[in-house]
Amino acid sequence: MRWAVDRLDVQPRDRVLELGCGHGAAVTLICERLHGGVVVGLDRSPKMIAAASKRNATHVTAGRARFVTAEVHEAELGHERFDKVLAVRFPPLLRGRAGPPLDLVRDHLVEGGNLYVVEHALAGNPGVDLVDAVKRRLEEHGFAARSVFAEPGGRRGLCVVATATS
Ligand SMILES: C[S@@+](CC[C@H](N)C(=O)[O-])C[C@H]1O[C@@H](n2cnc3c(N)ncnc32)[C@H](O)[C@@H]1O
Repeated sequence: MRWAVDRLDVQPRDRVLELGCGHGAAVTLICERLHGGVVVGLDRSPKMIAAASKRNATHVTAGRARFVTAEVHEAELGHERFDKVLAVRFPPLLRGRAGPPLDLVRDHLVEGGNLYVVEHALAGNPGVDLVDAVKRRLEEHGFAARSVFAEPGGRRGLCVVATATS
C-alpha cells in the first residue's frame, strides 16, 4: 500500500479521492503527507467505512479525512474537485462495470488531474494481461493511460496512471 500511495506523490494541499477505500490503510498513509489538503474515502460497505473511520479517527477530527458510504454510481460528492483519484484493487475497474466509476472520476477530477489504478498481479505472472485489461477499460470510457509502474524487487503491485481524454 505504501508503494501504491508513493505513486501519487501527495502534496500537502492535495485533495485526494479514494474509490473502494476498504479499511482505510491508504487513507492513513495519504493523511501523513497532507497539511491543508484532504482525502475522501468512498466505499459501499458500511463495515469497511466503520473500520476506516476508526483507524483514521484523529485524521477525521483534524479535517484531513472524510468517508462516504455509497455505491460508486450513487455517490454524492457535490461540486468537489480532486487533484488525484486512487483506486487500489477496486473491482469495477477490472471486471465490473467501469463506466459509473469513471464517470464519477471525470466529473470530480480537476483538469489534468490523474487517476491511479493499482492492482496486484498473480504470483509468477508479470501482469501484462492485467495492465492491458485496465488500459482497455480506461480507453473504452474516455481515459488514457499515461504511464505504468511495476513494483520493484519482484513484488506484484502494478499502477496505471491515467487522465481523462473526453
Ligand atoms: C478488494 S477490496 C480493496 C480495499 C482496499 N482498496 C485495499 O486494497 O485494501 C475492494 C473494496 O471496494 C469496495 N467496492 C467494490 N465495489 C464497489 C462499488 N461499486 N462501489 C463502492 N465500493 C465498492 C468493496 O466494498 C471493498 O471494500
